[in-house]
Amino acid sequence: MKLIIAEGKTGLYGAEIACARINKAGGKFVLGLPTGRTSMAMYGALAQKYKAAAVDFAGVTAFNLDEYIGLGAGDKDSYHYFMQSNFFDFVNIAPHNINIPDGMAADLAAECRRYEDKIAAAGGIDLLFGGVGENGHIAFNEPGSPKGGRTRVADLAPSTIKANETLFEDKTKIPHQAITMGLGTIYDAREIVIMAEGPKKAAAVKAAFEGESALWPISYLYSHKAVTLIADKEACALLTPEIIERHK
Ligand code: GLP
Repeated sequence: MKLIIAEGKTGLYGAEIACARINKAGGKFVLGLPTGRTSMAMYGALAQKYKAAAVDFAGVTAFNLDEYIGLGAGDKDSYHYFMQSNFFDFVNIAPHNINIPDGMAADLAAECRRYEDKIAAAGGIDLLFGGVGENGHIAFNEPGSPKGGRTRVADLAPSTIKANETLFEDKTKIPHQAITMGLGTIYDAREIVIMAEGPKKAAAVKAAFEGESALWPISYLYSHKAVTLIADKEACALLTPEIIERHK
């Protein structure tokens, strides 16, 4: 795992990496995309780069990591809405190349299988971005999630509900379940970039470097052949100088 300690917003570094890879590929490219407060700076920076003709998304296919169950694309609290209003409205990813799990699907198990099949049919994910929860979750893979898990319905941890409900206009409306890519789905991406900001993420960032533990899903990513953690100073507060030095 490579560590980048960001001066300022981690998303600006994330956007640089995304543009470099998309431009190098020069054609088809498959992105895995997160939601959450941390990702917003990356989406803003990517939209600006697109406007400045520094990147072209015409060949890009996108797969989001997760979606709440029971929220449709028109619901302001859904990840569909988040992605549309923070990113997709501002770049040229073709609508038919945008993929987000359908949290309204009548048959959720079938929707999870469909999503996995579609990722496989696209040739797998070239570059996957993620945030991390305070409890170390990746997408909605909460502590205890299986290391090799695939896209599935998952229960949100009480601490995740607490962290995310503040984003809801009416916090009693937050769903307690989501469709999430599994840790195995995520690990299969050819490159992974995780972004972490602020003191609340410091314990999860520390756990990323301390060996695999079911208590900290982020720890399962450590062994990936091309994984970068971009974290600000506050999120790195619990790392020893040795760990920082060894992962530069
Ligand atoms: C949600 C998402 C995660 C994301 C996390 C971090 O729980 N399901 O994929 O990593 O939020 O969010 P934030 O950046 O708002 O702290």
